[in-house]
Amino acid sequence: MKFFVDTADVAAIAELNDLGMVDGVTTNPSIIMKSGRDILEVTKEICDLVDGPVSAEVVATEADDMIAEGRKLAQIAENICIKVPLTWDGLKACKVLSDEGNKLNVTLCFSANQALLAAKAGATYISPFIGRLDDINIDGMDLIADIRTIYDNYGFETQILAASVRTVNHMKDAALIGADVATAPPAVIKSMANHVLTDKGLEAFMADWAKTGQKIL
Ligand code: E4P
Repeated sequence: MKFFVDTADVAAIAELNDLGMVDGVTTNPSIIMKSGRDILEVTKEICDLVDGPVSAEVVATEADDMIAEGRKLAQIAENICIKVPLTWDGLKACKVLSDEGNKLNVTLCFSANQALLAAKAGATYISPFIGRLDDINIDGMDLIADIRTIYDNYGFETQILAASVRTVNHMKDAALIGADVATAPPAVIKSMANHVLTDKGLEAFMADWAKTGQKIL
């Protein structure tokens, strides 16, 4: 499973990128707002830092305007992936922009039927939002599983990008189901390294080592 980082925090992306943990980056208007940065400027900085696709989202709601914004975002760098919402206009924009050779991430997906339409419209990635479904007591993982089945049934090449990831269990479950990518905030990715028994075991090793009075260096 590829890891995308769901942030516009350049320092956080750089830290994970140095460890080989970053296969791409996703942003959205809320993430840009939180960064306090200019969208074109910060997105360019991220694109220069990472090799993989960097999703930048359009904010227009009419297809023609989305297409114009998408074309402008695509000029930022070669690795831009244009993000459009899963509306009828978003699907129109997806089709036009993907036919022009751009990578497209269709976002705000909450149903398998939406995912089916996005694949037909040429999406490179479909972003089902796990956490926001969990928030309303619908199991977001069921949606990932349904989309996996449907895409595999028909050989769709659109990649499933598990989004709105909030927990380390979301990461594990998305990987078990076979999501192609999961995008998560840096803190969630870093938390994947944590285990209480690792901490406890290390503590015991350190205590025993101190008793030997030895040094390695
Ligand atoms: C990523 O592409 C999405 O925009 C993001 O994962 C949404 O996450 P949220 O539901 O935590 O805002």
